[in-house]
Amino acid sequence: MTLMLRLCRRSYATKLKDHQVTMMARGLPKREPLPGVQNIIVVASGKGGVGKSTVAANFACSLAKLGVRVGLLDGDIFGPSIPLLMNVHSEPRINEKNLMLPPQNYNVKCLSMGMITPPDGAIIWRGPLVMSAVQRLLKGAEWSPLDVLVIDTPPGTGDVHLSLTQLAPITGVILVSTPHKAAVDVTVRGAEMYQKLKVPILGLVENMRYSICDNCNHRIEFFKKQTEAPHKRLPKTLISLPLDSHIADCGETGVPVVIKNPDSEHAKLFSQLARHIWSILEENQKTNETKNETKSNT
Ligand SMILES: Nc1ncnc2c1ncn2[C@@H]1O[C@H](COP(=O)(O)OP(=O)(O)OP(=O)(O)O)[C@@H](O)[C@H]1O
Ligand SMILES: [Mg+2]
Repeated sequence: MTLMLRLCRRSYATKLKDHQVTMMARGLPKREPLPGVQNIIVVASGKGGVGKSTVAANFACSLAKLGVRVGLLDGDIFGPSIPLLMNVHSEPRINEKNLMLPPQNYNVKCLSMGMITPPDGAIIWRGPLVMSAVQRLLKGAEWSPLDVLVIDTPPGTGDVHLSLTQLAPITGVILVSTPHKAAVDVTVRGAEMYQKLKVPILGLVENMRYSICDNCNHRIEFFKKQTEAPHKRLPKTLISLPLDSHIADCGETGVPVVIKNPDSEHAKLFSQLARHIWSILEENQKTNETKNETKSNT
């Protein structure tokens, strides 16, 4: 191929890309704060099945136990699990402003595509439809007043994650990963995406590194080799959750472990996570208030 032809093709490709970006941007809503919602925390991971939804549900319930006003949005459009985990299946009512009213359980307002779409219907949606579904859940609902809206996300860094960052200011991301290399690698990539989008990463919830025997309290390590190296590439570990049959059982029964066994070690770990994140959010708020005061005095 001649150099000229190659250059022409490249410039056509660039133009096409620019054109596509402009066209797509035209349809995008502006990033605006959600009225009456102080903070948005996204729970994410590059990998599927590592415990994102379990962490999101238990974290939201633990925040609620602290007296924080919490919502839980199920951003997993294709495989919603929040209705099952939180035992909320009823279709949301609509208020006079045509906004959905998220049903509440365990003092957490919940909303999921699983409450809106028929359970047996296949969901075949492409990018723009995913975007509009996320937008409907985020902005088509009466979330206010909330201190924290927790968002559970599907695996990876696809349409849902980009839509969320384009639609509303995200306060921070909690990453979830098991210690195995395949999960760590994609979670690191996910972290890089959020860094590029300038969304703060609050830390990592490590899941299933170990297990504690119910009878003799012996700790069994599953990932002896994956110790230091993967951690260097991941953000700070906030808590490390054991693989535990009670956590798995709770996932099936619609009663999160922090509600069913409030005195368990798992509940203590989730409470530690909730208190840590809440203290960061309170600190942020104080800093913002001081900044605003300084601005208004000058
Ligand atoms: N620490 C744990 N101990 C025992 N079971 C767990 C633990 N964490 C998660 N599970 C179980 O693993 C399964 C997957 O968890 P979960 O649905 O939270 O993962 P996910 O990352 O949200 O998955 P997906 O990518 O499909 O959305 C569930 O059955 C859940 O109950
Ligand atoms: Mg999930």
